[in-house]
Amino acid sequence: MVTAGPTHEPIDPVRYIANRSSGKQGYAIAGALAALGARVTLVSGPTHLPTPKDVDRVDVEQAVDMLAAVEKALPADIAICVAAVADWHVAGQNGQKIKKEASGAPPSLRFAENPDILATLSQHPTQRPALVVGFAAETEHVLDHATRKRQRKGCDWIIANDVSHQTGVMGGDDNLVTLISADGAEQWAKADKHAVARQLATRIADWFDHRRKDS
Ligand code: CTP
Ligand code: CA
Repeated sequence: MVTAGPTHEPIDPVRYIANRSSGKQGYAIAGALAALGARVTLVSGPTHLPTPKDVDRVDVEQAVDMLAAVEKALPADIAICVAAVADWHVAGQNGQKIKKEASGAPPSLRFAENPDILATLSQHPTQRPALVVGFAAETEHVLDHATRKRQRKGCDWIIANDVSHQTGVMGGDDNLVTLISADGAEQWAKADKHAVARQLATRIADWFDHRRKDS
């Protein structure tokens, strides 16, 4: 199972809050895993991308819907959370379009925290995937933040992703990543998102082979 893309959190029926995620990295990973023979469910926020070959795609908008779709897709051997899930949604219901005239002043929005899909999967009491992989989008102290994120969420691997302005990663074609596991950190060369996806898919396939031999 792979999550990908941004989420759109509604403000009212015509407006939403989103982020700059294109979905490219998650789609590339889903495609690379399918190319290696995995059965892949891609739970995707709104993107402009075609579905990768041999991948089952489930479309969602908000974080809460993404969590529901992910839970419905369990059990899964491997979960890779690449989605740039919005951390907050707008609290309360705005069933109708917010009108300028009604308020006079610009409106204030109240936010509430979204469910953490990666943490939910990592700490799942009954259906935890055998390998749970997260991404960590960071703009500073990349390794530090990502290492702590791995521990906090309880996932097996974190792919630390440098999305600082200088590297132009968010929405772009290239990715600069470090794989963080219980064994430490391993920096990968800057490569396009398809190459990073193939490298990760191969790494996962190796992990899966070893696990099968060990059991
Ligand atoms: N993630 C998730 N659900 C959320 C937030 C994040 O599944 N509600 C996942 C992402 O898909 C990614 C990982 O958690 O694999 C890290 O996301 P990130 O935004 O870097 O971490 P946060 O814990 O949200 O911390 P912050 O945004 O404050 O850095
Ligand atoms: Ca976040």
